[in-house]
Amino acid sequence: NDIRGCSRGSLIVLEGLDRSGKTSQCGNLLAYLQGKGFSVEAWQFPDRSTSVGKMISAYLANESQLDDRTIHLLFSANRALMENKLKSGTTLIVDRYSYSGVAFSAAKGLNIEWCKAPEVGLIAPDVVVYLDVPPEKAAERGGYGLEKYEQLDFQGKVAEHYHNLLDSSWEIVDGSQSIESVERQLKDLAMHSILTCQRGKPLTNLWS
Ligand code: TYD
Repeated sequence: NDIRGCSRGSLIVLEGLDRSGKTSQCGNLLAYLQGKGFSVEAWQFPDRSTSVGKMISAYLANESQLDDRTIHLLFSANRALMENKLKSGTTLIVDRYSYSGVAFSAAKGLNIEWCKAPEVGLIAPDVVVYLDVPPEKAAERGGYGLEKYEQLDFQGKVAEHYHNLLDSSWEIVDGSQSIESVERQLKDLAMHSILTCQRGKPLTNLWS
C-alpha cells in the first residue's frame, strides 16, 4: 500500500536481565545504522515519558504500591503501536518488549498465559536478540540501582523465565564477551534482519 514501493523497516528487539548491556548496545546499534543512512529510531520500554510511564517509574522506585496484576497491565498499556512506523520504512531498535513483560511478571508468580494475553496481536519482532549474562555477573557490573527488581535472587527467576520463553527464532548473544564483540554480532544480525524485511518479509503478530 505504499505507492513509492518503499520497503518496510525491521523491528529489532533486545532483551536481557538488568545490567546485561542492552541499553548501551541499543545506542551503538542506532549510531551504526544511522551512519549507514538507514531510517532508524531507538525506543525503550518502559517509555517513562508518558503518563502511564510515570506511574511505572514511581512503582519501580518504591514510591507507590500496586498489585502485581495492575503493574503488569500498565507495562502492557505502555507499549506503543509500531505498525505505521515500520510500514513507512523506519527500522526500530527496541530496548525491552513483551518478553520483559512476561518474564518479569511470571517471575513474581503470575500465570504465563495471563501475562501474554493483553499483548496478543501486538506486532511481532523480526528478530529478538537475547543478551545472555548470568545473573551473578550482571549484578557485579557497577552494581544494581535502587529499583524494585534489581535484586540478584529475583533476576535469577527472571532469567529462568526468559529461558522458557526463548525459541529457535531468538538470537542468543553471549553478553559476557567484550563490548566490541557483542556490538559486531548485533550489527550483523540487524543488517540481516533489515535486508530480509526490505525483500518483503511480512509483518506478523505476537503470541498467536
Ligand atoms: P529497564 O529497562 O531497566 O529501564 P531503565 O533502563 O530505564 O531503568 O526497565 C525497568 C524495569 O522494568 C526492569 O527491571 C524490567 C521491568 N519491566 C517489566 O517488569 N515489564 C515490562 O514489560 C518491561 C518493559 C520492563
